[in-house]
Amino acid sequence: MHTPEPAPSPRPLHAAQPAAEQDIDRSDPAYRLWLSEAVAKVHADANRSADTHLLSIPLPREWGVDLYLKDESTHPTGSLKHRLARSLFLYALCNGWIRPNRPVIEASSGSTAVSEAYFARLIGVPFVAVMARGTVRAKVELIEFQGGTCHLVDDPSEVYQAAARLAEETGGHYMDQFTYAERATDWRGNNNIAESIFRQMAAERYPVPRWIVATAGTGGTSATLARYVRYAQATTGICVADPENSAFFPGWRDGDPTATTAKASRIEGIGRQRVEPSFVPGAIDRMMLVPDAASVASIRVLEGLLGRRAGASTGTGLWAAFRIVAEMRERGEQGSVVGLLCDPGERYVEKYYSDAWLAGQGIDIGPYAKQLEGFLRTGRLGEPVSGAAD
Ligand SMILES: Cc1ncc(COP(=O)(O)O)c(C=O)c1O
Repeated sequence: MHTPEPAPSPRPLHAAQPAAEQDIDRSDPAYRLWLSEAVAKVHADANRSADTHLLSIPLPREWGVDLYLKDESTHPTGSLKHRLARSLFLYALCNGWIRPNRPVIEASSGSTAVSEAYFARLIGVPFVAVMARGTVRAKVELIEFQGGTCHLVDDPSEVYQAAARLAEETGGHYMDQFTYAERATDWRGNNNIAESIFRQMAAERYPVPRWIVATAGTGGTSATLARYVRYAQATTGICVADPENSAFFPGWRDGDPTATTAKASRIEGIGRQRVEPSFVPGAIDRMMLVPDAASVASIRVLEGLLGRRAGASTGTGLWAAFRIVAEMRERGEQGSVVGLLCDPGERYVEKYYSDAWLAGQGIDIGPYAKQLEGFLRTGRLGEPVSGAAD
């Protein structure tokens, strides 16, 4: 009978032959020239831009609580996403992810895509936005105006896969704001939104805000604000206001990053059906679930206060800011609260400013409008309406 030879024992390490020397040089001077020019164009664009205003909301001075809104609607592409798009383009360019003539693809609820289409055109690459079919027409038109194209999908939760697939099919780059928003932004400073707020607050009577209220789409803005105040050792708390049907609130409340919701948010730009990877829960001090009707009632009130219209995500944050002001007033606490004006209301005339649309959605802003009217008179907002949102 044949006995198999024992397998040769591995050669001792000290006897191994040295690996043959290798050298792979992928330098591409033409690409590096293109890249330098692209980065220079993005920098030059930032250099031409002014900072956004910090608006003071007129409240009675004797309340001892001052409220401000950082007006992000005045960026060249009309929303706070202009900052994010600039950061995402610089991050992706410097990572070697964006290549000449290759498209940039993004999953978006619209605002980011408008801003990214602008930066794509600036550096001369094609841009495709993947969005839910229900996105307001005005945003589709703005994306097309900036030279981008729109790919609409029926199910809002499909935007991620559809964008990844398109990038693969075209050899393009899927920007993936929902993953990279938090890390693309330079949260320590570099004129980010937080640093700008602190600089603009410096001459106010309560220069260090007690609270800054943000909302979350990617979670990137709240992550930047939260990291900055921690890094700057400020006492400011960061509150994230979340709309109905968003996974951020239950995910944060329950410490469950896998939380999902069955329905899409009706507040464009914010409220996601999953807890996005870019949301940084550990840095958030407080979250408030805000009924959609309260968000819309708040932007209607804002128009009376500022003579300006805003999108409903501004209202979500504003409702939470009003509640904090009322709470501070009740406790006799003095200080300041800062919220964000995220994008202009003109994009949503057929939605949040249309009574017919509200009726069709079964949204009754009446009780919240009454609460707000009482708040502006007395400084008290009243009890939350129970069961309005879950
Ligand atoms: C109108 C609007 N408001 C607020 C946000 C929230 O910003 P972030 O993505 O930084 O969480 C978004 C994000 O898409 C938005 O479009």
